[in-house]
Amino acid sequence: MASYETLLLERRGRVALLTINRPAKLNALNIQTRAEGAAALDELREDESVRVVVITGAGEKAFVAGADIGEFEGRTAVSQRDVMTARSLFTAVDTFPKPVIAMVNGFCLGGGCELALSCDIRVASDRARFGQPEINLGIIPGGGGTQRLTRLVGEGKAMELILTGDMIDAQQAYSLGLVNAVFPAEELEAKTMEMANRIAEKSPVALRMAKEAVKTAARANLDEGLRREIDLFALTFSSQDKDEGVRAFLEKRKPDFKGV
Ligand code: COA
Repeated sequence: MASYETLLLERRGRVALLTINRPAKLNALNIQTRAEGAAALDELREDESVRVVVITGAGEKAFVAGADIGEFEGRTAVSQRDVMTARSLFTAVDTFPKPVIAMVNGFCLGGGCELALSCDIRVASDRARFGQPEINLGIIPGGGGTQRLTRLVGEGKAMELILTGDMIDAQQAYSLGLVNAVFPAEELEAKTMEMANRIAEKSPVALRMAKEAVKTAARANLDEGLRREIDLFALTFSSQDKDEGVRAFLEKRKPDFKGV
């Protein structure tokens, strides 16, 4: 298991907990954190004992308060473009072959909100605050915010958040569909782990196909998406997990999925 300077990586049974660990800077994403995040995902992709990943932020205050603004100073357009087109942490999360849950424990702003948007499910503490405040710096979201937020909550609400830079609380985020569930801060970890463990019991093969099929909806037209769904559905029929799932149902017992 590799060690990281800006992340904590912990295995809890079948669930890996990846914590962005720069609490003094509200877990702002600097170049090192992004690179280490992508490297940690590479490690977790290969690790068959890990079936679900949970991403969170260290400390009580923040999930991630955005890109590290200190790194913006003095950067040219070309060097900034290079940073953003190097392997993206957001894309690495989005295309990760296992489910990724954002456990949002506090400020979830800018690149932090974009990181949460790249995850498959977002669960928030009642103290979490969300926003895309880039406009206040004279810039715009650049980690997928204009695209993923718009797809998730619709153009009108995405426009409002991005043009005003205003923060919203967890309940408002829930009513927009930006988060799947809100829990009291002291229950957040237990409730998130409960959900992660429930998902981790499913067939890893089926989880992977399901994630890919759902992600296709944002990228393809309906006919292409429906065709892709059938292909991915059919692929599950090549797995031993499908035989086990069907047999377990008929034998009235709990399935034991192996991921093959
Ligand atoms: N990049 C770099 N440092 C950041 C940061 C960011 N995105 N967000 C917070 N920090 C740092 C602060 O500079 C401060 O560091 P210091 O103690 O060395 O001065 C530390 O984290 C604590 O933040 P602070 O601003 O003192 O906390 P607060 O409770 O007063 O305010 C926020 C919290 C989130 C409202 C405020 O930090 C903020 O607006 N952050 C920037 C959010 C943003 O614009 N993100 C999008 C970036 S593109």
